[in-house]
Amino acid sequence: MSSQTEKLLDAREAKAEIERLSRELSHHDKLYHQEDSPEITDAEYDLLRRKLEGLEARFPEFALPDSPTQKVGFTPAPKFSKVRHKIPMLSLNNAFSEEDVKEWLERIRRFLGLPEQEEIVLIGELKIDGLSFSARYEHGIFVQGSTRGDGETGEDITKNLQSILPSILTHNPPAVLEVRGEVYMSRGEFEALNAKQKAAGKPEFANPRNAAAGSLRQLDPEITRQRGLKYYMYGWGEISETLGETYSDHITAFGKFGLHTIAGFFENNTVYTLHSVEEVIRFYSAISNQRYSKIDFNIDGLVYKVNRLDWQQRLGTVGRAPRWAIAHKFPAEQVVTTLENIEIQVGRTGTLTPVARLKPVNVAGVMVSNATLHNEDEIARKDVRIGDTVVIQRAGDVIPQVVAVRTHLENSVPYIFPHTCPVCGSYAVREEGEVAWRCTGGLICAAQAVERFRHFVSRNAFDIEGLGEKQIQAFWEDGLIRSPADIFRLDYAKIRIREGWGEKSAANLEAAINKARTVSLSRFIYALGIRHTGEITAKLLARHYGSYAHWKQAMLALEPGSDAWSDLLTIDGMGEIMANALYAFFHEAHNRELLAELEKELRIEDAAAVESGSAISGKTVVFTGTLTRMTRGEAKARAESLGAKVAGSVSAKTDYMIAGEEAGSKLKKAAELGLKILSEDEWLAMIG
Ligand code: IVH
Repeated sequence: MSSQTEKLLDAREAKAEIERLSRELSHHDKLYHQEDSPEITDAEYDLLRRKLEGLEARFPEFALPDSPTQKVGFTPAPKFSKVRHKIPMLSLNNAFSEEDVKEWLERIRRFLGLPEQEEIVLIGELKIDGLSFSARYEHGIFVQGSTRGDGETGEDITKNLQSILPSILTHNPPAVLEVRGEVYMSRGEFEALNAKQKAAGKPEFANPRNAAAGSLRQLDPEITRQRGLKYYMYGWGEISETLGETYSDHITAFGKFGLHTIAGFFENNTVYTLHSVEEVIRFYSAISNQRYSKIDFNIDGLVYKVNRLDWQQRLGTVGRAPRWAIAHKFPAEQVVTTLENIEIQVGRTGTLTPVARLKPVNVAGVMVSNATLHNEDEIARKDVRIGDTVVIQRAGDVIPQVVAVRTHLENSVPYIFPHTCPVCGSYAVREEGEVAWRCTGGLICAAQAVERFRHFVSRNAFDIEGLGEKQIQAFWEDGLIRSPADIFRLDYAKIRIREGWGEKSAANLEAAINKARTVSLSRFIYALGIRHTGEITAKLLARHYGSYAHWKQAMLALEPGSDAWSDLLTIDGMGEIMANALYAFFHEAHNRELLAELEKELRIEDAAAVESGSAISGKTVVFTGTLTRMTRGEAKARAESLGAKVAGSVSAKTDYMIAGEEAGSKLKKAAELGLKILSEDEWLAMIG
């Protein structure tokens, strides 16, 4: 925050300052909204506004009745601007049974190397079925709010969150505090809203979550304000000081600052600590029983979190979820309906997926008319036939599934899975050991081509705005794009004159495509749509090889048994199946041609080491022998988080060998190769 509000003003000064700021803001409001000729940038405007809001919160008696802070936006912003989360917003792994929870706890115990008798204290919380947000407070004043987005970049919803979260925190909050939590709509508000929508002839929302989403992501924050949204917080991003050694210490402090914490939801703000699996199970069944009676908003499970923050820190994250927390989901809801037809969808990689077309039915608040039937074997195993009465289920945000058949129609016959592609007519094949039938049409198959393009431009790949399914389909049909590289060679003169396009939209598309010409290595790899290479694998590859040139060189040298092959398999998380898929991709001439064409159009950025400042960033390390101060798993995770590559075997490329007790042949080999060998203590000293 500015030094202006930081220093304590006396009442007289505050009054004068409030009046001055109000006048100034009104002036800028008028210029912006009525005359379309702002004199200051949005950032400068926001700063003025925050200053005024901060002062009004501290001296409400001086706030002017027509204060500009009370008028929320006249003209909607063209679209939400982006906010980068310095600390990523994570997701959670799920547990669907007691067994899953037990295994999770056991993994934690093993990872931390804790003895059987050491208690792992957990905090039990409700898992709110809403939308996550991050809200930044500086010197106790709300300055910015954002959605989760992809976890790394969200949308700026400051104005919308303003009416939901406190604008000011009390009792000495840290200078910087990023509060993270969930915005939700209670079931009561949801029903009232739908009644209103219906009366006004507007579409109703399917469930409270959708209603909350629709209400929060409004360009006009006034609408958000009227929708009665609420929030609970359950975590934090950046924080300028620590508020204790445990999660519960922090939660208690947040409560004092005036924030609603979900951990403090229960009577007398009790934070539930759970000390054993038995207590976890009791907590789960107690809450399940009160789910609809005592809780007026939807929850889709419970969340358990390790209370000790030093343990949280050591446990770290895998992919997008922390190891120290888990969502214990409530069981899926099941309903009965009629299966009207079975249709075959063709995916990006040519997989034929059978989809059940259902008589629409409401499952857990959502209308469902499609469900997956997985594959040929599943259909046969359940003997699913067209016309059947079936049981379907839906859990959380996963695709609804057909669980079982109740009854067949009279005279019905078993379903026969097609052996040709319904889109291009090519033969489909089912390889030995595989469950899926796959179309052999490749890029000549419209379904695969369009799907491939969609994937290529999708948010976590090239992220090209303005190139949605509709446009891709049309460009493909008219022969404008045949290879993904064509996207970067579009003739905008031709696009400008297409139906539905114009100067402006063509120019926007060109700008978006030009922006996408600079791409990170991991996004690039992910965009290629190589089988078994999802986002996480793409990131692992990018981190391991560092640059596009290295990666490509290594992939071209892949051959089972080669050095490149064993080097690839040293990556933690990489297996034979993925290696085979990469090998197959690079083996195809048309893929190599595609890469050559893309290279001409793009600037592929090197992968940044995770903590580039660390002594081991970019180095390859090998652990051997028994470590005494941490488990092998933890040591590995720690090294990786510092930007090192952890390899399983010693080679001339190894930078450091960390030798624990009773190290054997690997140590010998390292010594022979003259590698740098560290003891566990030396290693710990080195990484601090
Ligand atoms: S903790 C680092 N706690 O569930 C862990 N999440 O399915 C971050 N959610 O993305 C999440 N209630 O949006 C946490 N008590 C709770 C939650 C909660 C709801 C949401 C959150 C998260 C999603 C994962």
